[in-house]
Amino acid sequence: MSAFYRDAHNHLTIDGVSLDGLMAEFGSPLYVYSGAGLERAFTAFQAAVAPVSGKVHFALKANSALGVIALLARCGAGADIVSAGELARALAAGIAAGDVVFSGVGKTAADIRAALAAGIGQLNAESAEEVAQISAVAAAMGVVAPVALRVNVDVDAGTHAKISTGQRSNKFGISTDQREAASLYASIDADPHIKPMGLAVHIGSQICDLAPFERAYAALLDVANGLRASGLDVPCLDLGGGVGVDYQQASDTDFSAYGALVTRLFKDSGFALGFEPGRAIAANNGALLTEVIYVKQGDNKRFVIVDAAMNDLIRPTLYDAYHPIVTLAPPQNTIGKADIVGPVCETGDYLGLDRDMPTLAAGDKLAVLSAGAYGAVMASSYNTRPPAGEVLVHDGKAHLLRPARSFDSLLAEETIPVFD
Ligand SMILES: Cc1ncc(COP(=O)(O)O)c(C=O)c1O
Repeated sequence: MSAFYRDAHNHLTIDGVSLDGLMAEFGSPLYVYSGAGLERAFTAFQAAVAPVSGKVHFALKANSALGVIALLARCGAGADIVSAGELARALAAGIAAGDVVFSGVGKTAADIRAALAAGIGQLNAESAEEVAQISAVAAAMGVVAPVALRVNVDVDAGTHAKISTGQRSNKFGISTDQREAASLYASIDADPHIKPMGLAVHIGSQICDLAPFERAYAALLDVANGLRASGLDVPCLDLGGGVGVDYQQASDTDFSAYGALVTRLFKDSGFALGFEPGRAIAANNGALLTEVIYVKQGDNKRFVIVDAAMNDLIRPTLYDAYHPIVTLAPPQNTIGKADIVGPVCETGDYLGLDRDMPTLAAGDKLAVLSAGAYGAVMASSYNTRPPAGEVLVHDGKAHLLRPARSFDSLLAEETIPVFD
């Protein structure tokens, strides 16, 4: 099943709502998200991990539009955050502070203070230095900080190098070699300003093979059981995110095999479990809509120049990511390959390369599918291009989550010094 399907006249819709109509109302380029799809994905993930009673924290880094967070909060989502800004978003969208987990290698004293002041559920610490900082901030505030240690289990997730996080060569987590994680855990257990919450692991993103998860989770269990055997309290294991989606089909993700794996490994382990999926909830429930500006026939290539660009969706050029690109109008036969490119002055500014496309002309409208995760959140105003607006379709109604930025708002943030 997909949130994006064609109506009786073969025009592309999002949950039956005309995408042409949304572009006419809200302009182009435009991000659109399916409320029903987001709810479906989240509840499917919850159901898959229900046998181990896991708490599911949506990774806000994938899509942090307040409307999206609020919708998922209604389904019971907590939040996995990586900055004080995302903490502010989680709270503003109605997620209880106790349901927020704060990940990331570089939390500042101010970030930690904000998290503890809010009453955050868990800080995932990634180094001995960070543990010391958390302890000092908690002591100064007269509170006890709930801390889990994120371990680095040295597992290759087999995904793109830029989103692989579980190896020794990556900056993430505390090494499980030489018992570094174990001795640090013992020290937080003894620290009066820290309440030990357990361990966390996250080996990367867009992982479509279960084997790396199995290796990482087995290594995590090993460390956790060792800590327990030495008499330490390890209440929770946070299994991170990373579940991949099918970017070719842009359809709903089936979480049953992942659910079966965690059930097999953890069902009778006695640990409370947490999860941090981001991409798997949001990616295939969003699209970036764009309009053709020109079609330019190069010497040996057709360039379809559209009004969305790498500043709106950087994944194709940053991660060599594939996003299906389809017409909103009824599909026609291909007339050959084309590069779908934006107006930004970079050769790396493309949304798709060598795609079979029909005849296209200025004004035609396209949907770049599977753009609901790591899309709008990574947008920039490079080339002083105002980032696209975002719309959520829910129960047949379109809600403008964020209007497209204006030139005025971009320029208003800046000042020109008074030069002598
Ligand atoms: C600590 C942590 N948790 C969760 C996620 C979400 O990953 P994904 O979107 O692949 O589920 C990430 C993303 O890299 C992360 O760094």
